[in-house]
Amino acid sequence: MRLKTRLIHHPGSVCEHTGAVSPPIYQVSTFKQEGVDRNKGFEYSRGENPTRKVLEEYIADLEGGLDGYAFASGMAAISACFMLLQSGDHIVATEGLYGGTFRVLSRVFQRFNLTYTYVDTNDVKAVERAFQENTRMLFLETPSNPLMVITDIRQASELAHSRHALVAVDNTFMSPYLQRPLELGADLSVHSASKFLGGHSDLIAGLVVTRDKKVSSRIKQVQMSVGGILGPQDSWLVVRGMKTLGVRMGQAQESAQAIASWLCSRSEV
Ligand SMILES: Cc1ncc(COP(=O)(O)O)c(C=O)c1O
Repeated sequence: MRLKTRLIHHPGSVCEHTGAVSPPIYQVSTFKQEGVDRNKGFEYSRGENPTRKVLEEYIADLEGGLDGYAFASGMAAISACFMLLQSGDHIVATEGLYGGTFRVLSRVFQRFNLTYTYVDTNDVKAVERAFQENTRMLFLETPSNPLMVITDIRQASELAHSRHALVAVDNTFMSPYLQRPLELGADLSVHSASKFLGGHSDLIAGLVVTRDKKVSSRIKQVQMSVGGILGPQDSWLVVRGMKTLGVRMGQAQESAQAIASWLCSRSEV
């Protein structure tokens, strides 16, 4: 099935009990247990919630990943990636990345002795030089916000993996409609779903998609332990928004092209 079709007809969005083509909002904290270790797959919504699960499976499918995880914001999703690391580890990150990511590293994670080096990740030689003995993550934002610096995800991932470091990509600006980092070798694709995925400026949400079982279970552990989950109402809103992602991204590209062509025709530019 083509991506645009998968966007609109994600099978998980259909309610299996009623056939409703929009998933029910399970506004619930706790699920009735039939006995000790006997339930219908859900216990407590911090761990798993059926509406959130629809969104998590939806984004995992679109990114070509194994599992998806929904968080209360893009920053909570990004922080979950950094929480895979431990004190003493070093991160190489795209210079000029989103200010909130810069802030969480300098104001929060630095206090836990995570160190980092910013580098022009467009320059793979510079990335190589920035690697240290203790580098455990390459964090890319491509295109970067706001300067639109582009990184070759495949080349950077090969380098990072040869140094036994994980690769996380902030894919907010492209969305899986235009870029799928996991297919290019990254281990984690991260989103502020508050932007293109939600699409209507009416929610704050974050997503992480993994492609490896081990990394996936560690993100799950962070999500469950720290608890920065997305609620069922907002999960539903992101699912609703994502159905039109293809149409919106197509129009955004068309409009951007028209503006760029007009600017190119102006002598003042
Ligand atoms: C590229 C990028 N990543 C992450 C974030 C943070 O996302 P949120 O505002 O959902 O926490 C933003 C927000 O502007 C962003 O532009």
